[in-house]
Amino acid sequence: MILTILLLHLLLPGNAQLSLPNPPIQPQSPDAQRSGNLPSSNRVSWRNSSALGDVPPGGYYDAGDYVKFTYPLTYTLTSICWGAIDFGKGYDLANQTAYLDSMLRWGLDWLIAAHPDNNTLIVQVGDPSIDNNYWGGDQNIPTPRPSYQIDSGQCSSPSIGGIFCLLFPLFFPYSLPNEYSDTSSPASLTNTTYASTLLSHAVELFTFANSTLPLQTYQTAVPQAASSYASSGYTDELVLAGLFLAAALNSTEYHTAALSLYRNASLANGNGALNWDSKTPALAVLGLQVSSAVAPDAVGTWQAEAERYLDNVVDNKSNGRLTKGHPKDITCAWIIVLPGDSDSASLNPALNIAMLMLHYAPMATTKTKTSSYETFAASQLAYTLGSNPMSAPYINPHTALASGGTDIGAIDTSPPTEAHVLYGAVVGGPDKNDRFWDIRSDYPQTEVALDYNAPILTLVAANVLSNSADPFYTRLTAGVYASKRPSGKPCDAAFPCGHHGLSLGGKIAIGVLVPIAVLAIGLAAWVVSRRSRRKRV
Ligand SMILES: *[C@@H]1O[C@H](CO)[C@@H](O)[C@H](O)[C@H]1NC(C)=O
Ligand SMILES: *[C@@H]1O[C@H](CO)[C@@H](O)[C@H](O)[C@H]1NC(C)=O
Ligand SMILES: *[C@@H]1O[C@H](CO)[C@@H](O)[C@H](O)[C@H]1NC(C)=O
Ligand SMILES: *[C@@H]1O[C@H](CO)[C@@H](O)[C@H](O)[C@H]1NC(C)=O
Ligand SMILES: *[C@@H]1O[C@H](CO)[C@@H](O)[C@H](O)[C@H]1NC(C)=O
Ligand SMILES: *[C@@H]1O[C@H](CO)[C@@H](O)[C@H](O)[C@H]1NC(C)=O
Ligand SMILES: *[C@@H]1O[C@H](CO)[C@@H](O)[C@H](O)[C@H]1NC(C)=O
Ligand SMILES: *[C@@H]1O[C@H](CO)[C@@H](O)[C@H](O)[C@H]1NC(C)=O
Repeated sequence: MILTILLLHLLLPGNAQLSLPNPPIQPQSPDAQRSGNLPSSNRVSWRNSSALGDVPPGGYYDAGDYVKFTYPLTYTLTSICWGAIDFGKGYDLANQTAYLDSMLRWGLDWLIAAHPDNNTLIVQVGDPSIDNNYWGGDQNIPTPRPSYQIDSGQCSSPSIGGIFCLLFPLFFPYSLPNEYSDTSSPASLTNTTYASTLLSHAVELFTFANSTLPLQTYQTAVPQAASSYASSGYTDELVLAGLFLAAALNSTEYHTAALSLYRNASLANGNGALNWDSKTPALAVLGLQVSSAVAPDAVGTWQAEAERYLDNVVDNKSNGRLTKGHPKDITCAWIIVLPGDSDSASLNPALNIAMLMLHYAPMATTKTKTSSYETFAASQLAYTLGSNPMSAPYINPHTALASGGTDIGAIDTSPPTEAHVLYGAVVGGPDKNDRFWDIRSDYPQTEVALDYNAPILTLVAANVLSNSADPFYTRLTAGVYASKRPSGKPCDAAFPCGHHGLSLGGKIAIGVLVPIAVLAIGLAAWVVSRRSRRKRV
C-alpha cells in the first residue's frame, strides 16, 4: 500500500497543495462522478448521494454544473467497452474487472432508464443556464433539473427533430469477430441476460434513428444541449452503431447499412480528430474488425482507409501536429491544430489517436507499421504520465467537487488547498507548445471529463498486457513541475490573451465545462498489476 500511495502522490501535477491521504484511500476513484443513490461500496468516501429526483436518477455527471449528457456518455462507454473487448485481459490481470463491470453498469443502467420506450430517448438532465452560478458540493445542487428527450411525437412526422444514435456498447460475452481474434482478449465479464437487454435497446434505437427521415442532429430537438455538446453530424454515430450491431448480430445487413451510410456521407479521406463528436477515424478500424467476419469483400476498403489515416498521423501529414515534446525521449504529444479544438489543451485527441493505433496495430499490413503504431501510442501515454517538458503527470487534477470551494469568484484561491484529491483523472493538458499552467480556473487545461478518461483506460489495459516497464511517473521527483511551471497566464478561452483576470466567458464556461470526476480505473490497474507481478516473481 505504501508503494501505491507513493506512486499516487507522484501522479499529482507537481504542486504544494497536496498531502498524502490519511488514512490511505483506495488507489482509484471510478465512482467519483456518480449521480444518484450511491451504494455503500462506493469507493469515493467524500461523495454523497445526490440528485435523487432526477428523471431518470443515477448515471454520471458530465461537468461541474452537475448536468448529465447522454451524447458524450455513450461515446465514453463505447470507447471503454471497445478497449475492454480487445485488451480486457489487462483488467483481469490487474483485478479490476469487477470495477469495470460496476463502472459500465452505472452508466448503462441509466441509459436503459433513459430509453423507456422504442421512440423516446432522454438526452440531457439538468440545465447549464440554471447551474451556471453554482459552484459547490453535491448537497445543494440547484433545482429544477429538467429532463430533455427526443421522441417521435415531439416534431411533426416525418421530420424527427433529433436523431441521436445511441449505441449501447456491447456487453460481454460479445467479442468482436475478426480474423485476428488471437490478439483480442476480452475481459472475463460475461452476463448473457444483461447483454441481450442491451442489445435489444441498441436495435430499437438504431431502428428509431434509421427509420426517421429526414435525419437531423439531436440538438435540433433539444437546443439546450447545443451550448455544451452539439453534434456536428449524425452519420458517424449511425455507422458506428451499425458496425457494432453487425458484430453483435453476425449480420451482413447491418454492415451493408453502415458501409453505405459511410460512403454516401463521404466519410473517408479525412484527417481530423477522434472525439465525442467525431467518431469517423474509428470507423475504418472497427469496420475492418467487423467486416472480416461478416463481409470479407469489404476488408480491403476499411483497411486501406484505416492505414491511410494512421500513417498520416505518424508521418505528420494529418491535421494534427507534433509538439516539440521531450527531445531526449520518444515522447511527443500529438496536437491537432484546429482553432477551438486542442491547440490549448492537447491530451484528448492525442490519447484517442493512441488508443486507435493500439486497436489497429495487430491488423497492420506490415510488421514495421505495427511497430510504428505501438511506438507512437506508447509515446503519447508516456507524455501524459510525465515524460514531457513540464515533468508533469497530467492526471489527478483539482476539480470543483474535490476542491471544497463554493465561491466561483475566488476559484483560484478559495480554498487554498484542495479538500480532496481526485486520483487518476486526465486533464485537458498542455498547449501546443507543451506548456501547462496548473491554475484551477484554467478549465481548458485543468478540466477533467468522462470522455477525457476513456482512452487512457484502454491504453493502460493494453500496457498491462504488453509492457513490463513501470509507468513513467515513477521516475519523476515530486515538485519538479513547480520549477518548470511557465510564468504568466495561458492564452486560451479562460484567459484570453492580454487579460489578467478570468474572463466573464471563462466564468460561464467553468460552470458548464469543468467536470468533476472520472471513470478512472486505469492507473490503479497498472499499479496493482505491477505489484502482483512482483509478488509472483
Ligand atoms: C480483487 O478485487 C476484489 C474486488 O473487486 C477484492 O475484493 C479483492 O480483495 C481483490 N484481490 C486482490 C488480490 O487484490
Ligand atoms: C458530502 O456531505 C457532507 C456532509 O453534508 C459534506 O460535508 C461534504 O462536503 C459533501 N461532499 C461533497 C463532495 O459535496
Ligand atoms: C446478470 O445481469 C443481470 C441484470 O443486470 C443481473 O440481474 C444478474 O444478477 C447478473 N448475473 C450475474 C451472474 O452476475
Ligand atoms: C420496439 O422495437 C422492437 C425491435 O425493433 C420491436 O420488436 C417491438 O415491436 C417494438 N415495440 C413497439 C411497442 O413498437
Ligand atoms: C455468422 O454468419 C455466417 C453466415 O452468415 C456463419 O457462417 C457464421 O458461422 C456465423 N458466425 C457466428 C459466430 O455465428
Ligand atoms: C435503414 O434504412 C434503410 C432505408 O429505409 C433501409 O433500406 C435499411 O434496411 C435500414 N437498415 C437497417 C439495418 O435496418
Ligand atoms: C445520402 O446523402 C445525401 C446528402 O449527401 C442525403 O440527402 C441522403 O439522404 C443520403 N441518403 C442516405 C440513404 O443516407
Ligand atoms: C510537422 O509538419 C509541420 C507542417 O508541415 C511542420 O511545421 C513540423 O515541423 C512538422 N513536425 C515534425 C516533428 O516533423
